[in-house]
Amino acid sequence: MRLSILLFGLAQAKYIVPGGRWHDTDGNLINAHAGGVTVDKEGKFWWFGEYKPQNQVEGGGVSVYSSDDLATWEHHGLALQPIPDHPFISPKNIIQRPKVIYSEELDKYEMWWHADNSSYGLLLQGLATSDTIGGPYTFVDATAPLGNWSQDFGIFTDYKDGRSYSLYSNGDRKEGRDVYITSINETGTGLDEVIHRFDKFDLEAPTIIQTDNSYYALMSHKTGYRPNNVVAFRADSLSGPWSQPFTVAPLNTRTYNSQSGFSLKIKGKKATTYLYLGDQWDSNSLWESRYIWLPMDINDKKKTLDVVWHDVYDLDVKSGEYKAIKGKEYRGINAKTTGNAFKQEANFASDNVILAGISGNDSTVTFEGIEGSGKPQWVSFYYQNTDDMGFGDQPGGSPDRIGGAWQLRRISSVVVNGDTKNVQTLYQRDTHKGIILSTPLQLTLPKGKNNKITVGGLWNGFDIKGADLDRIVVYPAEK
Ligand SMILES: *[C@@H]1O[C@H](CO)[C@@H](O)[C@H](O)[C@H]1NC(C)=O
Ligand SMILES: *[C@@H]1O[C@H](CO)[C@@H](O)[C@H](O)[C@H]1NC(C)=O
Ligand SMILES: *[C@@H]1O[C@H](CO)[C@@H](O)[C@H](O)[C@H]1NC(C)=O
Ligand SMILES: *[C@@H]1O[C@H](CO)[C@@H](O)[C@H](O)[C@H]1NC(C)=O
Repeated sequence: MRLSILLFGLAQAKYIVPGGRWHDTDGNLINAHAGGVTVDKEGKFWWFGEYKPQNQVEGGGVSVYSSDDLATWEHHGLALQPIPDHPFISPKNIIQRPKVIYSEELDKYEMWWHADNSSYGLLLQGLATSDTIGGPYTFVDATAPLGNWSQDFGIFTDYKDGRSYSLYSNGDRKEGRDVYITSINETGTGLDEVIHRFDKFDLEAPTIIQTDNSYYALMSHKTGYRPNNVVAFRADSLSGPWSQPFTVAPLNTRTYNSQSGFSLKIKGKKATTYLYLGDQWDSNSLWESRYIWLPMDINDKKKTLDVVWHDVYDLDVKSGEYKAIKGKEYRGINAKTTGNAFKQEANFASDNVILAGISGNDSTVTFEGIEGSGKPQWVSFYYQNTDDMGFGDQPGGSPDRIGGAWQLRRISSVVVNGDTKNVQTLYQRDTHKGIILSTPLQLTLPKGKNNKITVGGLWNGFDIKGADLDRIVVYPAEK
């Protein structure tokens, strides 16, 4: 397919769709969580992340994928393979948040990660090396950084001098709760000195993005696998002084239901795009967790950084530009309802109306007159889920609370043109009350203007209600 694109000189348009099910070139779900992307000398992108086995056991190792466009990913298996009974990389160990840097001195690639036992009692940094970027990587050691604890792990490389820095939170105990920036030494195999400590903010999942004039350090609060409002600090220099933290996405969206972890600067011929690479965890099924990759609007004059939502966008890594793709909107006010589904007044929704009471296969809403192309198309479902995170043992509990019950998810079923043999499942994570977010599904709508999309609850053996729907947006097929 790539060949024919080159032969006919057509622009490639593989879209980035935050929160969608992303497949590799073999058609499998991409399984590379809390990872990082390293660019090789040829400009190829290498994505390393936690491989989460389907049975949810930790220590699946580190998977690696490569791409020329950040949208089409080829799988290269495990870059770091777990070794049974190994003290640090056995299938029972925690192998989290892997990052890879290149050491010019050694002409080797160095993989670093949070190395631990299953109860997070060790709090170490692991190191493995390889002669080739794709691996396999060979375990070297797991150590305490300058004698201290290290939990959530990140790496930042300064493009001005090529120097890399280890970023890590130092655990949950009272003596910890800091985030460190510590310089990595010239060979990339050890640490030099602490550059800055973000004292007692009790944040984690750190990443730093660099502009021409600033450094922005993004971190999340600590709420396990549940999302919260990610914050950033700004500074002229890595050693500070750093600003007060500020939120990076509209409040109460919990950073569009994602956690920070990595960021990437795409400097092209025409523009620079800063990308936020977040994780949308699913604690009931970690291996299926999604990826929320979004552009950041950074204004160094105003000293602001905003992660900006787009359902579907096209990033050109050569020019450095990205374009939000325009879709066709179908409003809830025009949808048909059955059973107990109904249109309810909601002054925060489109046309002041939201579709509520969706459940089973008899209380549904149907959007009609939908134009399809006959090819797979992304469809974004704009919804509200009012369950909030305090469901269960914490009624009305705060979303940023640690140790609470996992949220009750809303899951809808989606059926095209009444074909109930082909039911698609739509996960609709919590939003706050009055907050509408979107989540995408790829659907094949027959060519023509008369398609129907019906949304119900989940009824295949479970009985889970759907979230309230505002509207759907149908995007053009990828060319
Ligand atoms: C993890 O390591 C800590 C510190 O050595 C130890 O106290 C704890 O029991 C270990 N946990 C497991 C599950 O081995
Ligand atoms: C270890 O961590 C604690 C808590 O952040 C800090 O007080 C101490 O100075 C650290 N030691 C070193 C060598 O960084
Ligand atoms: C970096 O640290 C490692 C581990 O302590 C050490 O083996 C290596 O020699 C150090 N490299 C330099 C250039 O100091
Ligand atoms: C609707 O759901 C019920 C179970 O609640 C099931 O028995 C029935 O077959 C479903 N109908 C269709 C058309 O799938």
